[in-house]
Formats: sequence, structure tokens, C-alpha cells
Amino acid sequence: MEKQNNEFGKIRPKTLRCEYLINPLGIDVLKPRFSWIFESKECNQKQTSYHILVSSNGNLLKKNEGDIWDSGKVNSEKNVNIKYDGKPLESRKMYYWKLKVWDRDGNPSEWSKISKWSMGLLKSSDWKAEWIGARPKRLKWLRKKIPKRLEPCYMLRKSFFIEEKVKNALVYISALGEYELYINGKKVGDRYLAPEWTVYDKRVQYQTYDISDFLNIGQNVIGVILADGWYAGHIGLTLLYNHSVYGFDRRLILQLPIVFADDTKIEILSNSSWKIYKDGPIRRADHFKGETYDLRKELLGWSTPNFDDSDWENVHVERKKVKLVAQMNEPIRIVDQIKPIEITEPKPGIFIYNLGQNIAGWCKIKLNSTICDQEAIIRLRYGEMLKENGSLYTRNLKTARATDKYIFAGDEERELHPHFTYHGFQYVEVSGLKEGIKPPLEFITGCAIASDTPVVGSFECSDRSINKLWSNIIWSQRGNLISVPTDCPQRDERLGWMGDAQVFCQTSMYNMDMAAFYNKWIKDIRDDQTKNGRYPDIAPNTRKNKKIIRLIGAPAWADCGVILPWKVYLNYNDRRIIKEHYTSAKKWVDFVHSKNPDLIWRHYRGRDYSDWLNGNKIKAKSYPKRDASIPKIVFATLFFYNSTILISKMAKILENSNDFHYYKDLAANIKEKFNNQFVSTDGIVHGNTQAGYALALYFNILDKETQTKSIQNMIKALERYDNRLSTGFVSTLPLMLELTRSGNNDIAYELLFSRKFPSWFYMIDQGATTMWERWDGYVKGRGFQSWIMNSFNHYAYGSVGEWIYRIILGLNLLEENPGFSKFIINPQPGSHLKWAKGSYKSIRGEISISWKIKNNIYSLKVEIPCNTTAIVNILADKIDSIKENGTPIEDLKNIKFLSYDDNIAKYEISSGEYKFQSSWRKNMK
Ligand code: BGC
Repeated sequence: MEKQNNEFGKIRPKTLRCEYLINPLGIDVLKPRFSWIFESKECNQKQTSYHILVSSNGNLLKKNEGDIWDSGKVNSEKNVNIKYDGKPLESRKMYYWKLKVWDRDGNPSEWSKISKWSMGLLKSSDWKAEWIGARPKRLKWLRKKIPKRLEPCYMLRKSFFIEEKVKNALVYISALGEYELYINGKKVGDRYLAPEWTVYDKRVQYQTYDISDFLNIGQNVIGVILADGWYAGHIGLTLLYNHSVYGFDRRLILQLPIVFADDTKIEILSNSSWKIYKDGPIRRADHFKGETYDLRKELLGWSTPNFDDSDWENVHVERKKVKLVAQMNEPIRIVDQIKPIEITEPKPGIFIYNLGQNIAGWCKIKLNSTICDQEAIIRLRYGEMLKENGSLYTRNLKTARATDKYIFAGDEERELHPHFTYHGFQYVEVSGLKEGIKPPLEFITGCAIASDTPVVGSFECSDRSINKLWSNIIWSQRGNLISVPTDCPQRDERLGWMGDAQVFCQTSMYNMDMAAFYNKWIKDIRDDQTKNGRYPDIAPNTRKNKKIIRLIGAPAWADCGVILPWKVYLNYNDRRIIKEHYTSAKKWVDFVHSKNPDLIWRHYRGRDYSDWLNGNKIKAKSYPKRDASIPKIVFATLFFYNSTILISKMAKILENSNDFHYYKDLAANIKEKFNNQFVSTDGIVHGNTQAGYALALYFNILDKETQTKSIQNMIKALERYDNRLSTGFVSTLPLMLELTRSGNNDIAYELLFSRKFPSWFYMIDQGATTMWERWDGYVKGRGFQSWIMNSFNHYAYGSVGEWIYRIILGLNLLEENPGFSKFIINPQPGSHLKWAKGSYKSIRGEISISWKIKNNIYSLKVEIPCNTTAIVNILADKIDSIKENGTPIEDLKNIKFLSYDDNIAKYEISSGEYKFQSSWRKNMK
């Protein structure tokens, strides 16, 4: 029996999310999934049932009527990814939802606040609008051959009359190229670089904005600026041929249904009635080259009703076969604004601003006629580093010019920034000001742009260099989430390299909520999978049609297509990503198998980067430079094995028992082959490299008998390298994790704390504010590494972030309990660390952990969210010394004792706040 209404339970649902987002507009999943977390002041709280109501009418919902879906009371603990199961959802409709839950004692909560989402245009026939743009200039047969010159951004315009009060108006818009939307003179939304990057020949994203408040009774104007963007501008690894992988001609599509107060409707569509202007103030805009803005060319009020567009051309309408899909992840926005810390003048009239932080984005600049002559060209050149003489270092950007220009005119002070470009930089050089002018620090502001994935992790400890490392990792993640996870944001590359993403993905998920972002990117990966199953090395793949240097199928890079969805499943309990991706992932493993029937991955390894940037590639004095490079065949076969195992695990989740057994057996056979072929009886993994041991242990491929010996061999391989790393970026994190797992945590800490080359702190000592591509990208006194490949914002070596979260903070996922429904808290302090604290907003709520060691007392404070369970490991040299909040732990009924072994006591606890203390003599273990 339900309790009385005034006797509410002790938990209350909050943070209602639909498809991982809060109140999303224009989604196109037919059965969206709901998640929520709880508020509670009590320990041991959990949900026993839930009840969801969905209505297309907010007022009905207020009266607790779910006319679209009334789930009824469902006895379930699930609060993550509950699939909608009501009436079919309709295009363009807004839906409102709320829920209540029952707590552990069966008491109902109050109804949650109302949340909402809207559906996008679900069928292609819902799109009545047409693709519009400028009349193409080139002859068709010439299009592919002549690289296009950069042209000014187009401006498109449509005015229309409204007679009545608007009830609601949601606009659906996309472009081949990039757009900014203006209504009656105001920019709509705070996004940049929309509709963002996808495999355009397969899918183009549209965005939905609520513009109800932008419209007035009377004349209204829609204005759109159209740029080249990823679609028609420069993108990575295409330059030698031309810069248009997808197409030349920018196009816009826009559909605006307006509903009036009396429920009548009109629809404004992009079609031949629109006007276009091709000579606007944005003279050129390109991701690599930068943007040029000419204030003399500004058309005041161009997107307001009073503007006269009679000399504008009519648009050209083109039939296009484009699959439009809703963007269902966080948009690119300004995520931080940074004031410069310093200004220098290496040459008269050339000023260099130092932001003190390497970021991806651009600068806002304040210009006025006191500091700029009329028609002066103010130039902003961006770079990551300075040369010895204090001038800007740009060689490592290669062909990316990374320059914004403003041609000044007028009397007013203007704050300007680019629209359709971004740069990777810490320094910006400003030139072109009036002679004798010394601009102040406030003259510019650095704007970091990124896909706005919410930050969910925090970390701090007693060692400043680790804190700096953690911050550098976060900044490299920020700088490389620009619609896809890129390798770097500065040089002429900026691609979704899958090897880098795969090694970094768990760190990225500890740092930020990546669920929606990766759900989008996995589709890009799938879209560029070849028919016979090969995954690309970069997604989207800019080199899929090239005969020479086709980037597909490399071990560890292509395998990201299997690893990434698996990790997303583990972190967010996202079964759907597995379900949708399974056939594709299986096809990849089947491809490798079909070409390598003897189960050693010899053939079809594509460009085969192997353990990229391993010690053999390092040029440095007093560094051994031998035996660093794991034999490629060993590396490849390890990844073949791992992907096969993951397919079997996915099959198990999907309850596909045939496949489960098939891939499990296949993996067992690969394992046997691997051990026979590559592992000697004394545990030497062919090649005898740090990487070989680390990866073999990490993937659990070794036979029991050889495992212990291989661990010893891994340690010897480190000793041969003077206890320094010789691993590339694929095997570095596995090496750290395997050292810890095998009881050699002290060695892992030594590597982390090492200030000798190559190490994380070495990079920091050379001035890094982000992760560098190379350990020695720059060395004080020596200078720069080769400019050919030297990014100062490359997250791959930042994968050690996972080790920091798992070992120092102690937060660990449990594979059997995806989405943190049950997890392990197991800090493993080492070296001179005195304390660490941090938190993680999991999909089920925030977990926080802090520990300290002082006067032989170990204190551990944890907060466990409702509806979850934690296994907590407490360091204690005497079990009876353990107390929780002053009470001997054995007296507490809500804490379940599991084991005490090797000075570690294990307990199981459920939600709430706990303060443990125990006796702990440092260096006992
Ligand atoms: C990228 C890497 C990438 C590699 C493949 C480089 O140019 O920056 O991070 O994984 O190529 O070898």
C-alpha cells in the first residue's frame, strides 16, 4: 500500500536527463532514454520503484496525467537509461516529463520538477525546406581539380510578416559548411562551428533552437552567415590534393514552423525566395588559415527589418541527397575566458600576449580609433610557444597560418572575434596598431572553445606537480574536443585519430561527461568503416578515397571501434551503444580474422603505427634507445585478441549465446597461439620490451605459469632503461596499471614522480601547460623537437589521468556493475604523498573520496550516492583499529565486512557519508 501523500520518502529525484542531456531540443531517437539522480540526507538509501509520466501538455502533467506515457509504478532500482515506452513520439512535438520514486522502505517521493524535450524532424519527408546557396561558379568537371580560393562568407536573408502573437517557434537548421543564425539582429544561441563535423556524405547534423522570444508582431528577418567549415575548408591531411574533401558549395537548409496563440501555424522555409550577398565583411574564414574581418564591408542592420536587400541576388536552389540527423551532444561553446598574464614587445610595434595557458579557440580584441588608423590591418598571429629571442614560434603549425585579421574602420570601440575558425595557442602576436601605441593587457581576452561536455571529475593532492599534470590533462582534453576528439588543435591536422582517443577515453570519462559526445562520434567511426569491415584510423576519415596512404585498419587505432563503445557501456551502463554497434564491431574482428586465419595478425595492418612514439623514436643523450619498440606483429596480435574478447563480452550482454561462445573460443585460440609463438617458458614476450609485457599483462593474455616471470621481465626491461619509460603512447598507461596491479606500485610512483627524461614531470619542468605530443617537445637550453611533428597540445600521454583517478584517488569501475551501480574505492598511496581528494559525478550521482596519512593514522572520507554500493578498501595495520566516525567499525550494522588481507580491510557500504580512520604505519607495503 502506498503511504500517505504527506509521508514522503527520504529520496527525491533530481537532474532529470533525456538522452544524457537536460531539456534537449530536437532529438531524433524514437525511444529516448531517461536518467536521474537523487537527493537524500540519509545513509543506505535506494530506489525500489519509479513512476514516469510523459505528456505533450505541461498542464496535464501538472495534474499528474501522463497521456503519452504513464509507466505506472515499476518495481525497479534502475535510474539510468530507462527507455521510453509510450505512444509513438511525433516530429516537432514538445514533451514534458516527471517522475516519482519509492525509497528503500517503500515511501514515495514527491513528484520531481517537470523536464522536457522536443522531437526533431523524424522523417526525411518532414523536411520541406530546400538547400540554398550561391550559384556554383565552377564547371562540374573542373570542381575536383582546382583548389578553391578562399571566398568571403555568404550572407543569406529572408524577411517575413507576422500578424499575431507567437506561441512557439522552433527553428531547424543545418548547413553544408558552417552557419551562424541571426533573427532580427540578434545571434541565436551560443554555439560555434555548427552544424559541426560528421561524415557529411553519410550524415549531416541539424540543430534546433527555440526562437519564440526573438519574433515580433510585424516584419521579421532571418539572417544566416555561411562559411566553408569542415565541409569545404581546409581539414587535416588533405592539403596536397585540394582542401575540399566533401564539397565546394556551401549550402543552407532552414525550416521554421511558427505556432500562434490561436494554434494556427505558418512555416518559413529556405527556398528560392531568399536573398544572398557574397561580399560581406568576413572576407575569409578557414579553420587552419584563420579569419579576416573588414569593418569597411559591414552591412549595418543586415538581419533587421529595415535593411534594404534590393541589390542582393536571389539564392540558387539545389537538390541534394543529404541525410539530416539531429545533433544530440553538447554544442561547441566558449568554455572559458582567459585574461593574459603578460605582454612583451619583441620588436617595435609587435606585441605578444601570453595567456599563461595553452588553449584551443581564439582571442576577442577591443579596437578603437585611438589605437587603430582607419583601414589599418590589425593582425593576430597565434602560436603555442616563443622562440629564444621572444618572437612567436609557428613552425610546428606547418601550413596552418592561424592568423586573424581586422581591417579597421569607424569611430566606435568594437570588441571583435572570429566566427568560423579556431587556433591552438598560448601566445598571440598583435601588430598593425598606430605607431607608438602600447596596448594594455585588457586589450585581448583568450576564449577557449570546445564541445561543452560537463566537467565531472575533480582532483587535488599534496604534490603540486601531480596537480599541474592533472590540470594539463584537463586542458588538453578541452582543447581537443572540437566536435570530434582530435589529436591536436594547432597544426594542419586536427583529426579524430582513433589510437589516441582509445588510450585516453577512460581518462576523458573520469574528467568529463562524455556519454553524448561519444555516442555521436561512434557513428562517425561507423560511417567510415569500409564495406568489408575495416575501421578507419581517423574518424571522420579524410583519406578514405585516396589510393596512396589510405588510413584504415591499423592495430590499436582501428580497434578503437571496439574499445570505445565498450568503455561507454561500462561508464554509463549504455546498453544501446553496444546493441547498435555490435554488428559493425564484429565485422571488424571478422575482417582481421579472415585475413589472418592462423590467428597471428600478420596481414592487413594498414599504416601500422604500432606503439607510436616509443623510446626508439626518441633522440636524446644518455637515453638507451634500444629494445623499446615492441615487434609490430606482437602488438597487432594483442589488439586482435583484446577486440575478440570484447566482442564475446558484448555478445554476452546482448544474450547472443552462439556469438558469445564463438568469440570466446576464438579468443582462447588466439591466446594459445600468442603464447606458443611469442612467449618463452621463462616469460619473455618476444621483443623483450616494456611495452610487450605491459600490454600482454593488461590484456590478460599470458598463461598463468609465465605471468609472474613476465612481471619480473617487465621490471628488468625498465631497469635496462635506467628505470625510465621506453613505451609509446599506447602502452604507457598499461605499464603504469600493470606495475600497480602486480604489487609494484612503488615503481609506478617512481615513474610518475620522475623528473628525468622522458617523464610527465620533465614535460612540466620545461613549461608545459597542456600535455605534449612528445616528452621533449621543447627542452630548456636545447630548444624545439623537429617541427614536422611537435604539438604542444596532444592528450595521448595524458592517459595517465586514469591511473591518477584509479590509484591515487582510488575510484574504480566494476565491469559486472556498469554505470557505477557498484564500484571500488581503493586509494593506493605511495611515495611521499600525504593526502589526495577528488570527486566524480557519475551517471548515478556524485562520488567523493579524500584520504590523508598523518601521525600513523590513515583517514578516508567517502560519499556514496543513493542507489549505489561501494566496496571500500581501508589501509590498516591492525583491523581492530578501524573506526567510522569514532565508532569501532564492527559495531556498525550498515557496514559489511568482506575480508582482511595484507593490511587491507575490505567492506561493502551503501549510500551516505563515511569517515574511516585506522592505524597505518607508512611504507608497510
Ligand atoms: C597524430 C597522432 C596519431 C599519429 C598516427 C600523428 O600525426 O598526431 O597522434 O595517432 O599521427 O601515427
